Amino acid sequence: MKKIWIIIMVLLLSACEPVITSIPVFIYDMNDAYMTEFEAKIRANALGHFNVTRIDGQNSQIIQNEQIDNYLNEDYPVLIINPVDRLSVYAMIEKAKQIDAHLIFFNREPLAEDMALYDKLFYIGADAAESAELQASLVMDLFGNDPETLNQFDKNGDKIIQTVILKGEQGHQDAEARTKVVIESLKEAGYTLEVLDIIIANWDRNTAYGLTQSFMEMYQEDLELIISNNDAMALGAIDKLKEMKVFLDVNQDGSIDRDNEPWLPIVGIDGIAASLESIKQGYLYGTIVNDSDNMAKSIIELTDWILQDKDLADFPYPITDDKYVWIHYQKLSLEE
Ligand code: GAL
Repeated sequence: MKKIWIIIMVLLLSACEPVITSIPVFIYDMNDAYMTEFEAKIRANALGHFNVTRIDGQNSQIIQNEQIDNYLNEDYPVLIINPVDRLSVYAMIEKAKQIDAHLIFFNREPLAEDMALYDKLFYIGADAAESAELQASLVMDLFGNDPETLNQFDKNGDKIIQTVILKGEQGHQDAEARTKVVIESLKEAGYTLEVLDIIIANWDRNTAYGLTQSFMEMYQEDLELIISNNDAMALGAIDKLKEMKVFLDVNQDGSIDRDNEPWLPIVGIDGIAASLESIKQGYLYGTIVNDSDNMAKSIIELTDWILQDKDLADFPYPITDDKYVWIHYQKLSLEE
């Protein structure tokens, strides 16, 4: 008799447990090169923990709002969200509050005032200013680390670095901070920078490819460096610069010898697979790794902790202000 009661109790308890079919992961746009790799890492890390469902917002907040609405119900205790418009998260937060769901935002950072609306919100990301400081230090390495005597890459010997900046999406925290801080960091370190132009190419390789010819026609004579807010745009510029023979593998050995073959310094940010290849082949000078490995790990770990109702005080990644997990960037070039 006792046994039967135990079995009934176990059955009743398991019936009360919410059945989590799959945790939804909303990506702002699966055409974004960095996000595509990032999403694959989230999926890889989730293996053995829980299933994930990828939902592509196609770069439209209207589409993404509808998608998120479909998942804002009791079946989904955690939603992992890379918002299309980081300024438009208010409504989703208010809805999550009503059903007690957790929202883990990543890569596109909501405003602090939105993050303060509810205690079950998290943001996992990286400090854009850090990426710009590291990118500035790549530039310093490139020009010989002495602002008083720039090396041969100061083509005209005027001790000023003439540059064009390829900027990501306007209003994105990374595009704004990277553009501003890379300039400031170089100035603070004693370098004189002349920004010939800032070209907005929306993080996108094809867009940068399409815009490169015209800025090169304007500035090619003077240009000594291209600073790109991300790798995809740097690679797009490189595609065009190869066509224009600004980069030329004269001996056709598959890589550029920077001292003897035509080359133009260019730096990126992200560390996507294609850019690592480009660095190895001598085209891209260097990049700053936007550590999606650790971000993906911590997103999955955090989801797990929430699902298991574990104490976040013991969470393996530091959580700032009860909400933010910050992952550091790292410098990467052949010199590193
Ligand atoms: C940045 C990344 C860009 C782009 C953007 C999307 O952190 O550097 O390449 O993916 O996120 O939000």
